[in-house]
Amino acid sequence: MEIVKLSAGLGAEIRGVDISQPIDDPTFAEIEQAWRDHLILLFRDTNLTHQQHIDFSRRFGPLDDHRTIPKFRDEEFHEILPVINKEVDGRKQPVGRQWHSDLSTTLHPARGSLLRCEVVPEVGGDTMFTNMYRAYDALSETYKDLIEDLWGIQDMTVARHSQGRDLSDVRKANPPVAQPVVRVHPETGRKALFVSEMTTTGIVGMTPEESQPILEFLFQHSVRPEFTYRHRWSPQDMIAWDNRCTMHLALDDYDLSEPRRMYRTTLLGEQSGYLVN
Ligand code: SIN
Repeated sequence: MEIVKLSAGLGAEIRGVDISQPIDDPTFAEIEQAWRDHLILLFRDTNLTHQQHIDFSRRFGPLDDHRTIPKFRDEEFHEILPVINKEVDGRKQPVGRQWHSDLSTTLHPARGSLLRCEVVPEVGGDTMFTNMYRAYDALSETYKDLIEDLWGIQDMTVARHSQGRDLSDVRKANPPVAQPVVRVHPETGRKALFVSEMTTTGIVGMTPEESQPILEFLFQHSVRPEFTYRHRWSPQDMIAWDNRCTMHLALDDYDLSEPRRMYRTTLLGEQSGYLVN
């Protein structure tokens, strides 16, 4: 197995492993260690069926069946979330066109996600990733002290792609939650920032006037170019990312009349945070 870095900020390509076939435990342990070290892993030429995608993803842990978004999951394989730029029942698909970490607005933020590409537009449609350990580490000690014990308010209904829709029912079913602004990764013990422009609306106990400057600074700081990697997809690439220490962004810099078809599995995460009244 060969591990080749993708950028200085994060990411590695794994070569020499066929993930469509069962993988022995020592090889998978090496993949898991690479995931902890590099945060996102790229596998090329995967040629996976949905079942093989699910089987490989399960090696990382239990999977979400996307029951909170039943309209959008695959009808047969509920663990597969198609990420396709088409409308379903008159609604645009909830694609992440702002920086975010999957399921950060729930009490079980996703552990990781594995996204496989089937069709890409002629140009554009890349995905960007950023390293939230590095973003945290680059802060001054004084700023780290300032944010250490803060809780961010995470709200599923404020994303730009949801604007203009009546989301009162969605909000009732998915009320805002508080998540630590600085999250400790349960496996590495490292601290990572855990706020995002797509979902974080305030800081518990602060007025909007107090919290917005902090959040605006953290949103911009987290995505400094040196923390990021931008992936130009080829069909059958698959990327596994760790949502506990990264964010990602689907760039809509392409002709939206062209198809872009991806499939995602989502790894269930540990319990974190509490409901905000
Ligand atoms: C996602 O946000 O899970 C999908 C990212 C992408 O479509 O590039």
